[in-house]
Amino acid sequence: MKNLAIFASGSGSNAERIVEYFATSQEVNVKLFLCNNPEAGVIQRAEKLQIPLVMFDRPAFKSGAVVKILQENQIDWVILAGFLWLVPKNVVEAFPNKIINIHPALLPKFGGKGMYGHFVHEAVVENKETESGITIHFVNEHYDEGAVIFQASYPVIPTDTPEDVAAKGQVLEHKHFPEVIEKIVLENN
Ligand code: GRF
Repeated sequence: MKNLAIFASGSGSNAERIVEYFATSQEVNVKLFLCNNPEAGVIQRAEKLQIPLVMFDRPAFKSGAVVKILQENQIDWVILAGFLWLVPKNVVEAFPNKIINIHPALLPKFGGKGMYGHFVHEAVVENKETESGITIHFVNEHYDEGAVIFQASYPVIPTDTPEDVAAKGQVLEHKHFPEVIEKIVLENN
């Protein structure tokens, strides 16, 4: 069994979708949620789904305390699902090519520091883009720069609001993210 830890800073709809997807899996298990935001909706989802949750702060992230918790829980893969902090060197080094993130745009467009959530969708609309999409990629020490694993796109029409764009993206995220995680985890068994 491969154990996943999911990091989230926000609502956690992707985290919940991933738990549902692997609920009956004999090969992949969502063992832990980790959160850095006391206001995050993912906290309630963890309770509802009965997934152990670890709250942490920046010093714990930088000091190696988070890596220790992951190792104590035999975590094999780290999944970032709406997690907003840059992943520090000690975590990247402890999980080489074993950290996967989802970004709500077609990287390298609309990526980098400060480009997350509604900021991305507002930029897509402001730029009059005719398409946007999702990117699933490996994580290194730089925002949104790790090797791309998967992308899917959707059309953006002139009347779309940032909320419309976000909604179209979420449909693709919930469909593809669990499937891509499963493929990568089982391929690198
Ligand atoms: C998603 O749009 C994801 O692409 C981005 O953050 C959002 C998280 O949404 N990185 P949720 O918290 O999983 O609902």
